[in-house]
Amino acid sequence: MPASAPCTTMNPVSAAALVQPMDDNFTLPQEGGADHHVPTHIGIIMDGNGRWAERQGLPRREGHRRGVEALRSAVRNVGERGVKHLTLFAFSSENWKRPPAEVRDLLMLLRLFVERDLSELKSNGVKVRVIGERASLSPDIRKLLERAETVTRFGDKLFLNIAFNYGARDEIVRAARKLAENAAAGTLDPASITPELFATALDTAGIPDPDLIIRTSGEMRLSNFLLWQAAYAEFVFTETLWPDFDTATLDQALDSFRSRDRRFGGRAHAHQADQLVVKAAAG
Ligand code: FPP
Repeated sequence: MPASAPCTTMNPVSAAALVQPMDDNFTLPQEGGADHHVPTHIGIIMDGNGRWAERQGLPRREGHRRGVEALRSAVRNVGERGVKHLTLFAFSSENWKRPPAEVRDLLMLLRLFVERDLSELKSNGVKVRVIGERASLSPDIRKLLERAETVTRFGDKLFLNIAFNYGARDEIVRAARKLAENAAAGTLDPASITPELFATALDTAGIPDPDLIIRTSGEMRLSNFLLWQAAYAEFVFTETLWPDFDTATLDQALDSFRSRDRRFGGRAHAHQADQLVVKAAAG
């Protein structure tokens, strides 16, 4: 960058405006007055379809098919409990390493889900957003994902984020690259890059961080899911395999969440912590 580049005169507000969320029309509900006993945002790592099928003596494909049924009822149940944002890990950037037949099955299920469920999601006020890397996807999958977002764009009851071809490290690297390109072009002052500004370059821009992350099937790891956003998330790991995830399992996770004392690195309770953040933001 030339020494005379104008970036040093740029204030953080205009710098933030440089990095827009993917969807300019994306609007968020007002979070004021939210019930702190119910998570605003739940992320779910839906794991165990294969083991479920194996235990039933069925092909893996059947486990994934039953996984989609569990996904459908999770969307309904989560919405009914007043959760506003749900992020589901549907296909990771590492899932391409699976045998081609299994990848084909998963893509077919995605297609069926969009084709069969979209109008119902729309009439239930669900707004779909897809997070993950899209540029390398085939045009037909890209179109499918875009259609899901377009058809449901006016939904305001539940914000359903589908993580597809998603890997958190890849997301963070793409965000860093975007900011670096702006800095190299002289339109962004590197000194103005704060965690808040950085978050606006992520796929999840505009979506509040998850309060609760649930992983099924007894595995206790994040597997490259929402690494940045999970900084203060509460975790619930359940032995239940994803196809068996039902209302009772969801309610157990919500009960567990309710019993947590969230301090966000401080000593205050969640409500007080929120007030401190508001005070700090007000200067
Ligand atoms: C893990 O089960 C599950 C996934 C690969 C992702 C979740 C997928 C679905 C719920 C079905 C597809 C839905 C859409 C909309 C694409 P696993 O195969 O890793 O189970 P295992 O660990 O027991 O083998």
